[in-house]
Amino acid sequence: MKRIGMLTSGGDCQGLNSTLRGVAKALYQEYGDDIEIYGFRDGYKGLIEGKYRLMTKRDFSGILTIGGTILGTSRQPFKNMKIPDENGVTKCDKMVQTYKDMQLDCLVILGGNGTTKSANMLREEGCNVISLPKTIDNDLWGTDMTFGYQTAMDIATDVIDKIHSTATSHSRVFIVEIMGHGAGWLTLTSGIAGGADIILIPEIPYSLEDVCRTLEERRRSGHSFSIIAVAEGAISQEEAAMSKKEFKASRAAMTEPSIGFRLAHELNEACDQEVRVVNPGHFQRGGGPDAFDRVLTTRLGVGAARLIKHQQYGNMVALRNNEIVAVPLSEVAGKLKMVPVDDQMVETARAIGISFGDGIQTKKDKKKKKDKKKDKDKKD
Ligand code: F6P
Repeated sequence: MKRIGMLTSGGDCQGLNSTLRGVAKALYQEYGDDIEIYGFRDGYKGLIEGKYRLMTKRDFSGILTIGGTILGTSRQPFKNMKIPDENGVTKCDKMVQTYKDMQLDCLVILGGNGTTKSANMLREEGCNVISLPKTIDNDLWGTDMTFGYQTAMDIATDVIDKIHSTATSHSRVFIVEIMGHGAGWLTLTSGIAGGADIILIPEIPYSLEDVCRTLEERRRSGHSFSIIAVAEGAISQEEAAMSKKEFKASRAAMTEPSIGFRLAHELNEACDQEVRVVNPGHFQRGGGPDAFDRVLTTRLGVGAARLIKHQQYGNMVALRNNEIVAVPLSEVAGKLKMVPVDDQMVETARAIGISFGDGIQTKKDKKKKKDKKKDKDKKD
């Protein structure tokens, strides 16, 4: 009898249920009645506290299109995993104990960056683990795409689409703040898909002056409105030059609730245009997965079941070059995938005139700027 544990950890996203379903259906198909699947309640919390239940085939029926997670989730920061409690026992110890007590053959863990680090820790502690890459942020290293990302992109794009009409009617500047934690993937792609005029992402620090200049240029050329897609993690060029400590202090002193509102405040002062902010927030994580994510999660789920069958533990199931592959957790853990500043997607956006608020429009501009700097250095 195979005994498999499953949990979903960290912030939820679309496609958690369809992934669980993919894994479970493929396992039942392979093992018939010779398998027991246990679902842990609220992510690692359930593993720590021994809160789980034996799932049945029916639990995995009718959940392909359902948002959230049937198992519940919680955030259990990696940095706290090895801190002993009053009895000298760590969360990590408790999780390993539950794993051993239940005589599990493998733990299937659905999560993002922090979750994957903890999954790797459990692997190092001798547990058989397989992880699956979840997050709307698409910032997990080792996979071309995470699940949830495409659906969140659809939602963010829809917000930008809908803002266009009211922005046009009122000749306003609209700032749409998009999730993504410290990475700009979601903002970059939904910004392109939604036809944003300016895209601000953490990887490319912006200058307020340049954002204003772009807005003014648009107005002068007859465009009465502008749309700015700003990542929640976007930073200004001044902030980029700060030390970590200075940056923390400056953000702590920020009076606006988020970067989108701060930018609106700054633009209201710096240029003569009416600015509004839209923050779709957790809406971007809501509802069921789109068709792309349903297919991706089914493929990833089946990939996890295959790894269990072949006892290839200690891996994350990933999408690479449109193939489902196994990537060692030891390689993945702790690595973030940020948008490369010269990513083809960034260049594509620049090529159609989208501004990143950094004063660079195209590769040609970049080269010109570099050459100018070289000339200046030579003269100096
Ligand atoms: O990681 C997914 C995400 O939605 C990020 O984009 C965002 O920064 C964060 O989670 C929000 O976290 P919470 O749901 O805890 O507010």
